[in-house]
Amino acid sequence: PLLKEAALPLVEWYRSSKRDLPWRHDISAYRVWVSEIMLQQTRVEAVKPYFERFLKELPTVKELAEVHEDKLLKLWEGLGYYNRVRNMQKAAQQIMADFHGEFPESYEEIRSLAGIGSYTAGAISSFAYGVPKPAVDGNVLRVVSRLLAREDDIMRASVKTGIEEELEEVIPPDAPGDFNQGLIELGAIVCVPNGEPKCEQCPLSHLCQAHEQGIETELPVRTKA
Ligand code: ADE
Repeated sequence: PLLKEAALPLVEWYRSSKRDLPWRHDISAYRVWVSEIMLQQTRVEAVKPYFERFLKELPTVKELAEVHEDKLLKLWEGLGYYNRVRNMQKAAQQIMADFHGEFPESYEEIRSLAGIGSYTAGAISSFAYGVPKPAVDGNVLRVVSRLLAREDDIMRASVKTGIEEELEEVIPPDAPGDFNQGLIELGAIVCVPNGEPKCEQCPLSHLCQAHEQGIETELPVRTKA
């Protein structure tokens, strides 16, 4: 029940230590979606100005669905991976056509939108709607691999699926968003990759199996690619 024991200290740590980031204010499904897509291949500091401008120019799903492609690509210029924003427009058009322009609230419906995988669907449904679904990206895989001292290859889809299932069972029903954001934030600022996790600052170090065994810098294991 290690993951379950971790939940409360993680949520408390997140609430007291989280960075003040634009997408953590006025939370809505649309704001979470835009920010998470931008954050997929781009660092937090670089995303901030793009996020603010995008929300100002296209404040709603409807405006994103209807914007001319030239303007859309201009708003994304510099972020790269332009398929991300093309898919966002497709998804916005799906929301207009299939959900009366209202962002769907169920995990499965969100997951059905263009460009939205399990991570993004989990982030939107948990942060914006309090649905207890996990949001597992590379940061979260690293945190969980270390906490449980798992030496499985995190590049294998079955390992990610397994961790999603284990997390889903322990998400506190009263704080799914803070639990998921806590894992993401811990991976971003404390349980960082490469040689330098900051275990002395970690709210979970007393539970961490990799820390206990002194193998935190060897995890996660990643073979292919
Ligand atoms: N990286 C991915 N999602 C993030 C979020 N919500 N906050 C900070 N960094 C992130």
